[in-house]
Amino acid sequence: MDGDSLGDGSPGFGARAGWTREQAGGIERTADTVAPVFYPPEHDQVPEVHIWDTWFLRNRDGTLAEVDGYRVCFSLTAPADLLPGKRHDVATIRAFYSDDGRNWHNAGPVFDEALGQRQWAGSALYDDGDVYVFYTAAGEDGADELTYTQRIVGASGGTIHTGDGFELHGPWTHHDLLRPDGERYEREEQSRGMIYTFRDPWFFEDPATGETWLLFEANTPVPEGSDACGGDAAQQEFNGSVGLARSPTGDPLEWELADPLLDAVCVNQELERPHIVYTDGLYYLFVSSHQHTFAPGLEGFDALYGFVAEDLRGEYVPLNDSGLVVTNPVNAPFQAYSWMAFPHDDEVLVQSFFNYFDFAGASLDEIAHLPEAEQMRRFGGTLGPTVRLDAEGARTRILGKLGHWQIPRAGESLPPTDRELIARGQAGETDRYHSSD
Ligand code: FRU
Repeated sequence: MDGDSLGDGSPGFGARAGWTREQAGGIERTADTVAPVFYPPEHDQVPEVHIWDTWFLRNRDGTLAEVDGYRVCFSLTAPADLLPGKRHDVATIRAFYSDDGRNWHNAGPVFDEALGQRQWAGSALYDDGDVYVFYTAAGEDGADELTYTQRIVGASGGTIHTGDGFELHGPWTHHDLLRPDGERYEREEQSRGMIYTFRDPWFFEDPATGETWLLFEANTPVPEGSDACGGDAAQQEFNGSVGLARSPTGDPLEWELADPLLDAVCVNQELERPHIVYTDGLYYLFVSSHQHTFAPGLEGFDALYGFVAEDLRGEYVPLNDSGLVVTNPVNAPFQAYSWMAFPHDDEVLVQSFFNYFDFAGASLDEIAHLPEAEQMRRFGGTLGPTVRLDAEGARTRILGKLGHWQIPRAGESLPPTDRELIARGQAGETDRYHSSD
């Protein structure tokens, strides 16, 4: 790929790069960005819990770890009899393991005790036999009421034993790693708008430089009276950013805040679960975001959005001009959320959780108005089908999908895509590729 064709990124508001209203104004569903409809899996692999945000145990170089033949993932979970809308208040990190990348087993809660009132999303590193879990401590420890403060924590001390089946053990030590500084990263009390964020740490060792980084979701302080968005106070409340910290020594427990990689001031409030796929010498930065977190005057979807640059701290250009990479079909607009991409051969695979299916309401808020039994029935609460993506410079296109929670081993060859079968005239042998109907 010739990097010159990426074009120039837009400067951010205090961040190195920015997602502009003009770019986000171009968001629209296309055949290349709309995922196929997801149907419920034939059987729920882990029926006892709701599963949502999920991340895989990865090696320092970003590849998926395989420990004595096991792939391991971590998910936010809650008891399956809980109303799905209440799950964020009790989120617990559980580990799951698989020896074939299709059938996953519950290894139970990772921690006996953790920091915060509940634990939100993160990432996990397998480093020379040691397991580190980075997560968000949400809520003030010890407070009677639920609170929404967030800080970034790292747990060390994990080891995996496979002699007698799979076991992940502590004893864990929980380290407070990062809190917002109030300058580059907004503190909760500075927040002027909806849904404050300082969360979702994601470990990344840059293969090109060997430097060690932690990405996270944050907000950029925008003081009242600022001239951002032409002084439009309502738009200024939307100030999502992708935060960055550096480990000067490579120690996964020692971090210094750096300038944000990208912001979406005047565009979007939540750039969730930021992560990088490094491929073809390019840095693909992905985030998840919601329809309802776009600033007034912009229309987006619950979707995976992405940007590409030639350096980690480079001039990010939105993928496909607008930033939209994978969204849900118009007739199932909330079928999946919290996407996470990872490289596989010359493709990029994207896992997400199966959210509300059989629901074509105008917003997620409408779910809460359905009878409770319907809210339960329509919530997937497991991993969705893995989506296959082609990324070429600043363009991506969806190639098809694999099964629910199907995570192939490195080097495992994938079946021909539906598009390939159609090109060969064998479309009848599989479901026809689903476009943006
Ligand atoms: C995305 C998210 C994450 C957060 C978690 C809380 O699905 O909002 O940013 O860590 O959910 O449940």
